Amino acid sequence: MTMAPEEPKVEVPEGYVRLTIDGEEVIAPKGELLIRTAERLGTVIPRFCDHPLLDPAGACRQCLVEVEMGGRPMPKPQASCTMTVADGMVVKTQLTSPVADKAQQGVMELLLINHPLDCPVCDKGGECPLQNQAMAHGRAESRFHDKKRTFPKPLPISTQVLLDRERCVLCQRCTRFSAQIAGDPFIDLLERGAHQQIGTAETADVLDMASRTSSGKPFQSYFSGNTIQICPVGALTSAQYRFRSRPFDLVSSPSVCEHCSSGCAERTDFRRGKVMRKLAGNDPEVNEEWICDKGRFAFRYAQTADRIRRPLVRDSSGTLREASWTEALRAAADGLTKARDTRGVGVLTGGRLTLEDAYAYSKFARIALRTNDIDFRARAHSAEELSFLASQVVGTTPENGVTFAAIENAPTVLCVAFEPEDEAPIVFLRLRKAARKRRAKVVHLGQWTTSSVRKTFGELLACPPGGEPAALAALAEHAPDLDAALAQEGAVILVGERAAEVPGLFSAVHALSSRTGARVAWIPRRAGERGALEAGAAPTLLPGGRPVTDEAARAEVSTAWGVQVPSEPGRDTTGILAALAEGVLGGVVVGGVDPNDLPDPELARRALDRAEFVVSLELRPSEVTERADVVLPIAPDVEKAGSYLNWEGRRRAFDITIENSGALPDGRVLDTLAVEMDADLFTQTPAAAYGDLSRLPAYTARPAFTAVTPASLEPLGKGEAWLSTWRQLIDNGSLQVDEPHLAGTARKPVARVAPSTAEQLGETVTVSTGRGSVTLPVEAADLPEGVVWLPSNSDGSRVRTALGAGHGAVVSLEPGGAR
Ligand code: SF4
Ligand code: FES
Repeated sequence: MTMAPEEPKVEVPEGYVRLTIDGEEVIAPKGELLIRTAERLGTVIPRFCDHPLLDPAGACRQCLVEVEMGGRPMPKPQASCTMTVADGMVVKTQLTSPVADKAQQGVMELLLINHPLDCPVCDKGGECPLQNQAMAHGRAESRFHDKKRTFPKPLPISTQVLLDRERCVLCQRCTRFSAQIAGDPFIDLLERGAHQQIGTAETADVLDMASRTSSGKPFQSYFSGNTIQICPVGALTSAQYRFRSRPFDLVSSPSVCEHCSSGCAERTDFRRGKVMRKLAGNDPEVNEEWICDKGRFAFRYAQTADRIRRPLVRDSSGTLREASWTEALRAAADGLTKARDTRGVGVLTGGRLTLEDAYAYSKFARIALRTNDIDFRARAHSAEELSFLASQVVGTTPENGVTFAAIENAPTVLCVAFEPEDEAPIVFLRLRKAARKRRAKVVHLGQWTTSSVRKTFGELLACPPGGEPAALAALAEHAPDLDAALAQEGAVILVGERAAEVPGLFSAVHALSSRTGARVAWIPRRAGERGALEAGAAPTLLPGGRPVTDEAARAEVSTAWGVQVPSEPGRDTTGILAALAEGVLGGVVVGGVDPNDLPDPELARRALDRAEFVVSLELRPSEVTERADVVLPIAPDVEKAGSYLNWEGRRRAFDITIENSGALPDGRVLDTLAVEMDADLFTQTPAAAYGDLSRLPAYTARPAFTAVTPASLEPLGKGEAWLSTWRQLIDNGSLQVDEPHLAGTARKPVARVAPSTAEQLGETVTVSTGRGSVTLPVEAADLPEGVVWLPSNSDGSRVRTALGAGHGAVVSLEPGGAR
């Protein structure tokens, strides 16, 4: 008998090992967990505690397998989620080993001893790993006939997360997520043995056991919703969603978050035309598997009872009344044409538009209104900022710019005028990961040691508000280590939108990056800002960042659009509002803009009152619709398709989730309005708008940056301080309405001052300007003397409206005051 020659063995590359799983030979990278290697072979080992983005814990013991090393079987089955592969290892999973199978069945039986049989009323029923694995690997009949362990239920561990402890399998996914990923170790394992349970400082208080094992910290996190999603049973449920729907009644649609500029992948679940919940999507390049609580819970704004569903026209008595689309579009076209032909019309788009809708506004302004008076910045802004964006930001993509991965791999990151946890939470998670896993040096130029500083293991480079340009200019002298670190390969500077409020700050960032070679990324707060910039919804820039004043660049757009694009640079947001208030401009078209967000809300109100004709494209009644002559309803994200460009310049396209609602995207409304004004936009659909934008010739020239000299700090008088302020993630933002569970986890508004100032002030402080005042409880922090920090848009602290001031302004402090 002739034997077939043995196949030559594949050589094992450096850094890899050879092992056998269920009789199949596999080559795996050293350090890989057995459970992952098996997964790559297509063998799914049951598990509860294992999660690819959390450190291994070996807590649930469900993943037991039989392992043999050097020809000797290990005495007991081993947890495959904690054991790494080794050369010559022989592994048998439940598929080939009766020992592993029996061990897994035994663990399952133990887990089910105390687990209630309440699947029919449990939120997780139908999508529950315990339910699924009990079906696949459990015994058909229970041998346990005693009383199950029960607890009072549910325990609200926050306004949005409820805990049913009897369902918990103690996998520690929630505690590990909170401690490792979010850096908010508020939830912990309490007690021991049969009494072991998950809890917080508050639940421990309820149970009179605070001193035992709780972290002692109250529940406080912007990321708590992720614990609900990764809990493998129904122990953690969402107060917003609890008992609202069964998973099998929901239709799921991939979507993209509309809130901040991270552009997280999400899954939107809806039923009968109503969004029931949002979950994090899995996008390793962007949000990995996490989203913040605002992205998860703030979606009811599109479902409020007061949503504008029909066009409104102001009649001769001054009342807004419902009208047909035909009548409203006719009225809007007539009013805008008249205003355009007399004094002109400006356009304020707001920062929340999709790329396609922003492009429609950009084209509408130039073609139908024949103006460059358009600006997407519904916040503090400057010409210096626009010059910086045109020269450094427009056109950057993940291929040629800074990305989430670049942040994760950077040796040093400097945050300037940017509070990552509040302004771009997923950037914050990457910074924390970079610091935790790779020991990246994270430095924050700011006023006090915020939670972003602490949780990114960061350093504070302290300066007074408005003193940031001077601090950066003196870096080589005062912080030579940081200066040298920024010159290392891969170093990154992240600059936030607040920089526009400090004259000379973009110039200082530009100078620092030119000198050290550190790459710069601009991270605005809102999802639509980067797209609006690329679409040319700006007074001095056309699509692709073409300067309005560049004749050849302008000619490219004129040729593509078939009309002459106006050559005069336009007014910015403040310029448009001032011109309206002075009667120089006649009309204005306003996208989703809240006057309270603008640098001077009072000026905005005066401008809208004085304007001859106001058209508002809105979802819900607002201070703008109150003053509008025509209100045109538009579709929220879930009722339209489109895309956002996130801060990386990555296109985040999404399809329509809820079809046939009858609501129209801004681009479609503007397209029809333009036709009424005898102009063609070709933006009838998001696809048409994107196609039209993509057909413009590529534009790669970048204008030079025009640097600005920093202003010196205004001197302080007695009882005065410089104001430091930014918006907290969960605040009074217009997309967070009607969501009490989310609002319940907003950080308490306080005024922060240096400890010595806090002592003088007492419990509360009144911060005032000539315009008005804000009174808040005082909290001491490591701020420099002469500085006060206020949240910009929280309860009792609407800084723009109340003070008419922003970051760097001089304000007066007085103890006490009525709240
Ligand atoms: Fe949405 Fe930003 Fe939160 Fe992601 S991090 S879920 S994009 S708000
Ligand atoms: Fe391995 Fe839990 S999945 S011990």
